Amino acid sequence: MERKKHTLGTLFKKVTDGLPITWLTCYDFPTAYLQEKADIDMILVGDSLGMTILGYDGTLPVTMDAMILHTQAVRRGAPNTFVVGDMPYMSYQPSVETAIRNAGRFMAEAGCDAIKLEGGTEMCDRIRGIVQAGIPTIGHLGLTPQSVSALGGFRVQGRGAEQAKRIIDSAKAIEEAGAFMILLEMVPDRVCKLITERAKDCIIMSLGSGPHAHGQLLIYHDMFGLYPKFKPRMAKLFGNAGEVILKGLTQYVSEVSDRTFPQKENYFTIPEEEYKKLLTML
Ligand code: KIV
Repeated sequence: MERKKHTLGTLFKKVTDGLPITWLTCYDFPTAYLQEKADIDMILVGDSLGMTILGYDGTLPVTMDAMILHTQAVRRGAPNTFVVGDMPYMSYQPSVETAIRNAGRFMAEAGCDAIKLEGGTEMCDRIRGIVQAGIPTIGHLGLTPQSVSALGGFRVQGRGAEQAKRIIDSAKAIEEAGAFMILLEMVPDRVCKLITERAKDCIIMSLGSGPHAHGQLLIYHDMFGLYPKFKPRMAKLFGNAGEVILKGLTQYVSEVSDRTFPQKENYFTIPEEEYKKLLTML
């Protein structure tokens, strides 16, 4: 039986039923297919693809067109999963109108169910505008990779009481601006708990922010040893696909080199009759 895609209503129902929401990043068709098969609640087509797929050191070079292309592939692989498009750098910062237009592209061209953007109180007008355009919107607080330079690197945010208070205030402001969900990335667990307890009409998700949120997000490539540059402390390895693939690749090189690949089942033959005829034609 085809599974039913989540709606905002069923996501909130999971929260009221006390069931954690599962969320993963994904950037391509085959992975989206597997994630849907695994019954994941939500997929984030993150601009982290700048690092995990394109090999940049950060997310800033990622364009709106690249995000649309990858999101379309994910949608084809996971037609019955709630897909979130991640607004890339400068697709929403310049103005409310730019934000609405680009959020609209995610919905119309890529078939998204919601969009996510980074930033706190200063992004409330963008969130309000996008929500008023009828687009479900997710906020992102704590470590926001598009501002990594201003934040002083990929590090925990909100360890000091004053910064923690700013994150809590931002969460409230974003909720009031209309975000139905907020992702907290690398925020201390007790700060995440305070935000989760105070959320009224908003689902709080954690990426490295502990168990007290309404659900968890992980970066797919970190889960399976597929990002060679570093492994964030918060990521758990659920299987080392990187190692398996490397072993297979090394074996391929060796089998082609010693002519043990290909075997009969790996190629096609021409019938004897046709082959003889072909030779007379040459
Ligand atoms: O782009 C992304 O995958 C993200 C996560 C880091 C939360 O925004």
